[in-house]
Amino acid sequence: MIFGASGDLTSRKLIPALFQLDESGFLPERFLILGVGRTPLNDVEFRKRVIEENNNIQYTPGSEKADLFKRKIFYLQLDTSNPGEYDKLKSKLDELSGQNSIPENYIFYLSTPPNLFETISKGLSATGLNNQNKNFKRLIIEKPFGFDLATSRKLNESLHACFEESQIFRIDHYLGKETVQNILVTRFSNSIFEPLWNRNYIHHIEITAAESLGVENRAGYYEQSGALRDMIQNHLLNLVGMTAMEPPVDLNATSIRNETIKLFKSFRPFTKKDIANQIIRGQYLSSKLNGESIKSYREEMNVDPDSRTETFVALKLYIDNWRWMDVPFYIRTGKRLPTRVTEIVIHFRSTPHYLFGKDSNRIDKDNLLIFRIQPDEGILLKFGMKKPGSGFDVTSVNMDFLYSAQSDTYIPEAYERLLLDAMHGDATLYPRNDAVEQAWEFVDPVLKEWKENERLKIYGYPAGTWGPENADSLIDGKQLTWRYPCKNLVGDGNYCEL
Ligand code: BG6
Repeated sequence: MIFGASGDLTSRKLIPALFQLDESGFLPERFLILGVGRTPLNDVEFRKRVIEENNNIQYTPGSEKADLFKRKIFYLQLDTSNPGEYDKLKSKLDELSGQNSIPENYIFYLSTPPNLFETISKGLSATGLNNQNKNFKRLIIEKPFGFDLATSRKLNESLHACFEESQIFRIDHYLGKETVQNILVTRFSNSIFEPLWNRNYIHHIEITAAESLGVENRAGYYEQSGALRDMIQNHLLNLVGMTAMEPPVDLNATSIRNETIKLFKSFRPFTKKDIANQIIRGQYLSSKLNGESIKSYREEMNVDPDSRTETFVALKLYIDNWRWMDVPFYIRTGKRLPTRVTEIVIHFRSTPHYLFGKDSNRIDKDNLLIFRIQPDEGILLKFGMKKPGSGFDVTSVNMDFLYSAQSDTYIPEAYERLLLDAMHGDATLYPRNDAVEQAWEFVDPVLKEWKENERLKIYGYPAGTWGPENADSLIDGKQLTWRYPCKNLVGDGNYCEL
């Protein structure tokens, strides 16, 4: 059951993921999808909207399988903010399950504004729709999971008043990405990497999640959120988790989630001084790109013309544990950057005694392992090789693996994997309440300091550039800079998308 079914996520992600799962044969013969929303629609209108007129799925009218899928979709108009309406929902579910001989295993997907999470879970529990005596009842929620530590704790408390933690699945769609899961496989199935995966061999780690789009039509949400809440507190810290966690004892949800929380607890807390020196925030300015005028953030629809919401964050964090002590993790994310790319770059230390050049103190810039999360998914290893000919000049070369080279490989969408896992009751790729709260605990002092200390600057950057200029000095500013990735994994070079 999808709450908020007339919203954008249903057509863009949820129905396409379910459609694809069904096409691939992962769904049982007997299942139904019930969309619930305030908009008055009947079943036929809803099916038209989410299937026939949905550009995000490959629907061919007349295809028996696709038409059967379409007929399994229903709609119920309901005011979910009204506790009195939940009996109507229960009757509808009883009717649909009864008529179609479907066991009462229910998954409730809350694709609604977060202020409804509490009301909906109360409504469900008041009608017994949280009761797992015979069949499972699961709740999937979308971020934001709170606005800060206090509100996230409050949210968890109110959810726990109605559902057990084991019934709650919090979506972080980055964990559903195939390439993110592959980080664990690369690390823990290859003895050529794991022995090097520590402070003795790794100089620093960079994680970038860049977007070329601006805020689009989401200013209502984004103005209150900003990049720190929108991307760092969840997606990017979870990428740090996958990159830096200790090997779990096995692959079950509890073991992996225990390693995540252990890691999150090792983040070195930011002091006020760190917040001033180790975190840079920016906001995009207008610019002209390929002949097109791009608006500044402040000129976007529904954005305060004096807004101080950050659309870019770059920060340096440390993990105080045996493996990572004093290895800097540089993290950046932003909207209106030159290209859409997410990648993790492992920078290995230089060899102790460099034979092939004059500067023995040099920092190796070319000993890199890059996990390309998206697009052009793959892994790139960069290392030094002798330039053919006289002498011993070294040049940097690439060894790459690209998913696209495997013609028989289909990379499922994050939502496909996550929805299927929820159906199986596997919460491995869903953040647990303690990890969500711990991540808030880490970013809370930053949010507080930004709010209270008006002297902390927010820098402008022209749309289409890699953020404020001083984001480079965060890394080193002399020998080292961020990697400036291109759309394509093996291409690199400064600002090449411009
Ligand atoms: C969402 C954020 O969680 O992730 C968006 O709210 C952002 O602001 C999106 O654009 C990025 O996801 P992806 O999968 O496109 O990298």
